[in-house]
Amino acid sequence: MTFNVSADAYARFMGRYSELLAAGFADLAGARRGQRALDVGCGAGALTARLVSRLGAVAVCAVDPSASFVAAVAERLPGVDVQLSAAEQLPFPDGVFDAALAQLVVHFMADPVTGLREMARVTRPGGTVAACVWDHAGGRGPLTTFWQAVRDLDPTAPGESAMAGVSEGHLAQLFRQAGLRDAEETTLTIHVRHATFEEWWEPFTLGVGPAGSYVRSLPDDRRHLLRERCRQLLPDGKVEVSATAWAVTCRR
Ligand SMILES: C[S@@+](CC[C@H](N)C(=O)[O-])C[C@H]1O[C@@H](n2cnc3c(N)ncnc32)[C@H](O)[C@@H]1O
Repeated sequence: MTFNVSADAYARFMGRYSELLAAGFADLAGARRGQRALDVGCGAGALTARLVSRLGAVAVCAVDPSASFVAAVAERLPGVDVQLSAAEQLPFPDGVFDAALAQLVVHFMADPVTGLREMARVTRPGGTVAACVWDHAGGRGPLTTFWQAVRDLDPTAPGESAMAGVSEGHLAQLFRQAGLRDAEETTLTIHVRHATFEEWWEPFTLGVGPAGSYVRSLPDDRRHLLRERCRQLLPDGKVEVSATAWAVTCRR
């Protein structure tokens, strides 16, 4: 899926969750100084920034098929080699990275198995290939309440729960299909508190990802209904979001 949105819109919508997720994911992948790492599908740079703080900018490369994200990461993180590219055809020779990571990306790849195979190709033997994806199918993603409200009003709406890797065991299965045999799946959980319902809702109107596209597709009256349904499903006052991702790491 193409993300034709500004990095700022992305940061307000998903960055508020992915910046936190990046810490645990970098830990899980064992990212540390001395390594050279690739961030695949870097978006606005949530994980890239985390890798830079651990490895140093010159040891980090990043790719994304969205030109606005590539420009934003180049500006945010000087020294990082950031290129316009999809996972399925990475612009690097074989075995040049100690680790290749993809945070919240596999389910958006046109061909997840080819994308993971490419990540393995550019990683040295013994290096790490890692990916994580929200547990949308298990109802533990950061957008679960939103999609619940959507389904309450429109049971035929697609949602994100059928996407690649978002159900238990499927991400590890994709790794194995890509030839990464010892893939191990675990979970990572983050907690975010939004001060008000409006603060939680407003980023859904920015057109980011499947949820934002869905909101943008609605006429005003149905958008209003959806917002009010979300409000009913959430407690008054602060909105506490706990979100869990499936995460797989694997030795190449
Ligand atoms: C949900 S965002 C995640 C961004 C970032 N990794 C983060 O954690 O905030 C998904 C990203 O995947 C990128 N993407 C979509 N299709 C891709 C593909 N085939 N290969 C690599 N990245 C892709 C999008 O452009 C977008 O930046």
